[in-house]
Amino acid sequence: MPYFRRNVPLPDCDYAMKDILEQLETRREGARKGGGERRIEAQHKRGKLTARERIVLLLDKDSFEEFDMFVQHRAVDFGMDKAEKIPGDGVVTGWGTVNGRTVFVFSKDFTVFGGSLSETHAQKIIKIQDMALKMRAPIVGLFDAGGARIQEGVAALGGYGEVFKRNVQASGVIPQISVIMGPCAGGDVYSPAMTDFIFMVRDTSYMFVTGPEVVKTVTNETVTSEELGGAKVHTSKSSVADGSFENDVEALLQVRRLLDFLPANNTAGVPEWPSFDVPDRVDMSLDTLVPDNPNKPYDIKELILKTVDEGDFFEIQQAYAGNIVTGFGRVEGRTVGIVANQPMVLAGVLDSDASRKAARFVRYCDAFEIPIVSLVDVPGFLPGTAQEYGGLIKHGAKLLFAYSECTVPLVTIITRKAFGGAYDVMASKHIGADVNYAWPTAQIAVMGAKGAVEIIFRGGDAETIARQTKEYEDRFMSPFVAAERGYIDEVIMPHSTRRRIARALAMLRTKSVERPWRKHDNIPL
Ligand code: HXC
Repeated sequence: MPYFRRNVPLPDCDYAMKDILEQLETRREGARKGGGERRIEAQHKRGKLTARERIVLLLDKDSFEEFDMFVQHRAVDFGMDKAEKIPGDGVVTGWGTVNGRTVFVFSKDFTVFGGSLSETHAQKIIKIQDMALKMRAPIVGLFDAGGARIQEGVAALGGYGEVFKRNVQASGVIPQISVIMGPCAGGDVYSPAMTDFIFMVRDTSYMFVTGPEVVKTVTNETVTSEELGGAKVHTSKSSVADGSFENDVEALLQVRRLLDFLPANNTAGVPEWPSFDVPDRVDMSLDTLVPDNPNKPYDIKELILKTVDEGDFFEIQQAYAGNIVTGFGRVEGRTVGIVANQPMVLAGVLDSDASRKAARFVRYCDAFEIPIVSLVDVPGFLPGTAQEYGGLIKHGAKLLFAYSECTVPLVTIITRKAFGGAYDVMASKHIGADVNYAWPTAQIAVMGAKGAVEIIFRGGDAETIARQTKEYEDRFMSPFVAAERGYIDEVIMPHSTRRRIARALAMLRTKSVERPWRKHDNIPL
């Protein structure tokens, strides 16, 4: 058949064939318009791109292959039999590539029935979910929608159920990413909630199960959409979202960047990108990163940026529980997950929020065979009624559990404090870490010297306390007691941290761990 490009009919095309091809192109043009010029304009006026414009930005140029462009709703109730049938039915679906790697995508079209989910709309998403799982490739959902198509009732609810079930089946098998780029209410919030990462666009997106009007009716609270479920709320308070971006363009470009870090699936192994950063690069400035005063903070992100390839670090949940830092970097071009206590925030203490945040990240890395590098400077778990009443025991246990069940390579560097239970929890040798290094500034102990002596010598005079504190510091406030027992494999020079991590990770590439069969574990949720 002669190849037909838009508006360029081939000269040897007979007229009947030309008509057919033109009709196809006309139908396609109609479908591409979605809910029409007026609604597209309204979308743009709100600072939002259309579903198709978003896909173009997310995927490599000209790589999008669309499915089900002509699918229409089949509803007849509540005037739907007379309602306009817009091809595509409120969601654009298909696949393409991101830097050459296959990615499946669905993008809600707010210009068509507010992007709401009908039975046929759900079937389009389900098809993409099934294909992504079969091909073992990541799936990205772009959300901008008003929940269930109200006119369809239970048919829409059934559609959601099918989507949810597939989210769960794909969990831990392929990366699933959700980007919230407009309203996201009702049924639409639960699918993202079961994916691996949720990102939001600041000022134009919000997520809630029930909107401000229902909230007012039920609880008599008056809140705006932004106050109830805006990007600030979900990235800093609820921790539902993993990050937020200034606008649609930035969000989509950052999702491309994240995809470059992620394996295609749980057996593909981490991607390997060319790196111009030599693995044995030393950084002398790290020798003075830890201040002389052990109670003075320093920025652990400096160590992260000086350790990973080209300083390229993709942080997850940056605005939440800043006392622990989580994110992806690369060493020798291969992805690693970084978990690091942050002395700049609450002295790097582990509390419920930090434990939950890090536990989820550690589990993600383990599910997708991403090695984890842990940078430890932790004064312990945060004391207090607020923490205990809030379930610190259970939340702390999540992190302990997550690290303990890991089978991926674990490399741990203790830069300064590793006190009490937090020492054990933060990827210690005892719970399964493979290579454990400490800087000479490390202090591995049950607690700080002053607190320890005040307990042991309770009631002692000031002179005794001071003398014993000095003795305790000399004996325990170093990495050497742990190193003498083999809990620390080597005390390393800070400036050689990147080289030591790179060598450890290279050695650990063949790590293989057998676990006894079980249906699944019972992590303290
Ligand atoms: C059908 C919908 C719709 C929906 C919006 N529209 N939501 N059509 N079903 N759920 C249509 C509107 O009729 C309108 O059509 C167009 O989309 C744009 O909507 P507007 O209201 O004009 O836009 P805006 O002012 O920006 O408000 C957006 C909105 C609001 C906040 C999303 O539309 C809204 O509150 N919608 C209803 C949300 C909701 O309650 N959903 C059901 C949740 S229950 P026209 O033709 O004028 O362009 C649910 C249950 C599932 O999801 C639970 C599973 C676990």
